[in-house]
Amino acid sequence: HYNISPSPKKRKAKRFWLNSSPNPSASSERPTLPNLSFPHTPPTPAVTMAAEQSAEHFRGQARLPGFAAPRRYDLRLTPDLAACTFAGSVSVSVDVAAPTRFLVVNAADLDVSPGDVHFAPKGSGQVLLPVEVTSALEDEILIIRFNEVLPLGEGTLVIAFQGTLNDKMKGFYRSVYELNGEKKNMAVTQFEPADARRCFPCWDEPSFKAVFKITLEVPCETVALSNMPVVEEKVNGPTKTVYFQESPIMSTYLVAVIVGMFDYVEAFTADGTVAPLPHYLPQVSLSLSPLGGSCWPHFPFAGTSVRVYTQVGKSAQGKFALEVAVKTLILFKEYFAVPYPLPKMDMIAIPDFASGAMENYGLVTYRETALLFDERHSAAANKQRVAVVVAHELAHQWFGNLVTMEWWTHLWLNEGFATWVSYLAADRFFPEWNVWIQFLEESTTGFRLDALAGSHPIEVDVNHVDEIDEIFDAISYRKGAAVIRMLQSYLGAEIFQKSLAAYIKRFAYSNAKTEDLWAALEEGSGEPVKTLMHSWTKQQGYPVVSVKLKDGKLELEQTQFLSSGSEGVGQWVVPITLCCCSYSVQQKFLFRGKQDDFNLSGLVECQKKDDFWIKLNVDQTGFYRVSYDEELASRLRHAVETNILSAADRYGVLDDTYALCMAGKQKLVTLLHLIAAYKNETEYTVLAHAINTSLSIYEMMAVAAPEELVNMKKFLIDFLEPFAQRVGWDAKSGEGHLNALLRGTLLSALAELGHQSTIDEAVRRFNVFLEDRETPLLPPDVRKAAYVALMQTVNKSNKSGYESLLKIYRETDLSQEKVRVLGSLASSPDPDVVREALNFLLSSEVRNQDCIFVLRGVTAAAHEVAWTWLKGKLGLHSRDLHWTPAHLFHHRHCLTACHGREG
Ligand code: BES
Ligand code: ZN
Repeated sequence: HYNISPSPKKRKAKRFWLNSSPNPSASSERPTLPNLSFPHTPPTPAVTMAAEQSAEHFRGQARLPGFAAPRRYDLRLTPDLAACTFAGSVSVSVDVAAPTRFLVVNAADLDVSPGDVHFAPKGSGQVLLPVEVTSALEDEILIIRFNEVLPLGEGTLVIAFQGTLNDKMKGFYRSVYELNGEKKNMAVTQFEPADARRCFPCWDEPSFKAVFKITLEVPCETVALSNMPVVEEKVNGPTKTVYFQESPIMSTYLVAVIVGMFDYVEAFTADGTVAPLPHYLPQVSLSLSPLGGSCWPHFPFAGTSVRVYTQVGKSAQGKFALEVAVKTLILFKEYFAVPYPLPKMDMIAIPDFASGAMENYGLVTYRETALLFDERHSAAANKQRVAVVVAHELAHQWFGNLVTMEWWTHLWLNEGFATWVSYLAADRFFPEWNVWIQFLEESTTGFRLDALAGSHPIEVDVNHVDEIDEIFDAISYRKGAAVIRMLQSYLGAEIFQKSLAAYIKRFAYSNAKTEDLWAALEEGSGEPVKTLMHSWTKQQGYPVVSVKLKDGKLELEQTQFLSSGSEGVGQWVVPITLCCCSYSVQQKFLFRGKQDDFNLSGLVECQKKDDFWIKLNVDQTGFYRVSYDEELASRLRHAVETNILSAADRYGVLDDTYALCMAGKQKLVTLLHLIAAYKNETEYTVLAHAINTSLSIYEMMAVAAPEELVNMKKFLIDFLEPFAQRVGWDAKSGEGHLNALLRGTLLSALAELGHQSTIDEAVRRFNVFLEDRETPLLPPDVRKAAYVALMQTVNKSNKSGYESLLKIYRETDLSQEKVRVLGSLASSPDPDVVREALNFLLSSEVRNQDCIFVLRGVTAAAHEVAWTWLKGKLGLHSRDLHWTPAHLFHHRHCLTACHGREG
């Protein structure tokens, strides 16, 4: 019962290609896309006009016309790994819902000759050949014109095509790896957001969901993977034909194909063995099968096969991710109250990869650093990164893959939600990591971007394919995650989870919009979710709530926070929470106006106490800042000093004060005074934030007030030294994850500040490490710090430290180690050395995906040199580097984060 006619109400909206307007692109309304859930209505007169259109009507449009939609793709691909080309054919069952002489599909960078295209209406026995096939390059579409009007109903469109396995890390591309000392190519796909069209002609928009039946013709010795399990393999001489099972309906951006040489580890989610659990959130039990294995299909356990594919010989590095994946699939099955929809889950590390990871349905691809974990050479930070990325991508299997955004405007729903829920999973499995405190770094990064006048709302109009890449940014991911967290904490965990499960159930195998989620949450909670959330997703920016205590009343006022110090005009429905002297009683209300007074019960008694304090935005669950009057601020500082506030609140007081200070709303001395109040800080994330904040102030002073730099350096070293003495260089036996993170952060900061004894100790340990890579003197958690410290000693007349780091880079086969080296190469104080490091990033020894780490490692002292270098090179080399917006996304997304998440 497929039907693509719009509802009567929707039909009123202009559909651009049916519109008589001579300039359809002038219309501000976007076309209405097919909605599969509408009951069938016959085509209207307007729709019949489609048959009269000319090819020109399809150019310059935001979306494909809706008169024909794909139901099933039969896709066959034959990559030639040596020649870096591929041949393919696709046979698409199409539902023609309105009379048309045209079929319009996406295609880009593919060779299609008109003789390679035909259409066979079902049951007619006829094969229609097109009279014209136009490829509109800018629109990335093929316009296929037939002589006659196509009969309504089903037909099969067949297209044969050819393409190049490109080196741009998008579409169907090649990635280079080494096997037994020989360089080899693997073939990999990366289709999100809109590059499936670079592999095969298709309706490349998320709402055109269809079934995929994929067949690959590949060399016998290779492993061929796709979204679904293999059903049959036929060997024919040196090649084999691999037939994959048909998929459930899914969007094109989630299709994946990989061909190369790999090893794997495997485990099963032992479905049915998880005992019924008392609470709405499950305890997770884990059952791992013996690792390793031979060929699909085999099912020693009931449950879903989960595999981690790695380079040949490195499968042991996949064990950690495998364990996390199995647990996560079980957790999400409970949390979303729907089983994982596919029969298998493969996860694979790809040596050349534009982003961090990609949630292809049933075949998730990762950068090596985001999937592999080496017991001896990976750091605690690497481990956490793997856990969070795996949880994020697996969350998409439900939120994104099963229920898909209707259009890219709702991308944030995918990414914001997956980001938020990945913390929920990490917190469940690794409670000692305190990831919800670490989550505040996500908010901080969102806050930073969203305080610029040039920010954008969470929900944005997307009218051209080029605009999609831009929104994979801190607004969609981090502000998105933060506003979801704000809502969850306002509604309560249980109501939130139940409403979410209802939403997943309602829109499974279909598409949804932001409003659909709000509707489910509003139904489940009885709260005005839509009104509340519109103010956060439809306008950019966020408020700062100013609080004054006057005559026993609290005066609140909200204004839009901008880092420039000016005031924006935005206004929000702010879920205010507040505590007064203790966490045992919390007040909670929606603050809708510009200003208001609040009478607080208990305030008068509380105010009499010596250690009186008031904290708004309790535990920092809201996406807003708070500015306190002088009295309240100094009370809070005291509460920080005496460790009365929660860790999240200690983080928040510092973060808000820092932001207000940078916007010129508070004095620097107030901020420094506050930082000193953290001298006994015990929580890793809070201390790390104090350190990062201090380093930013230091970097800014280097430019704005160099004469103060010596004093500032002394202040910071005095602050950090006692911590460093406590933590030391060597891991204490049995110490926790957060201690390991702290050691790295502290020593890196001291190294960056040029702290001599840290540098001396680093060099001593490094020299031992250089001789013996297994020495316990330089564990992975402190290596980056040691490399940065070492680079402080390098100058153009003594480059041995730099050369030694290159030696480590060249000799290691662990990507995380390579990234650590790259991240430190540019931190020498000598401009010549920095230039040399920058030139190295352009060499063939550095994969394009990794260039960013060298740039990110440039310290304040070399900003000027690096900027001059970049300006000089960018014009020339941006082409050679093949930097695509996807890479730039990675810059925007990660560069702005405080200290590398990969390294
Ligand atoms: N869907 C994205 C991958 C993606 C990013 C595709 C940009 C196309 C353009 C994936 O789910 C993702 O968000 N990856 C993140 C890692 C995540 C843990 C934040 C990434 O690549 O950084
Ligand atoms: Zn994602």
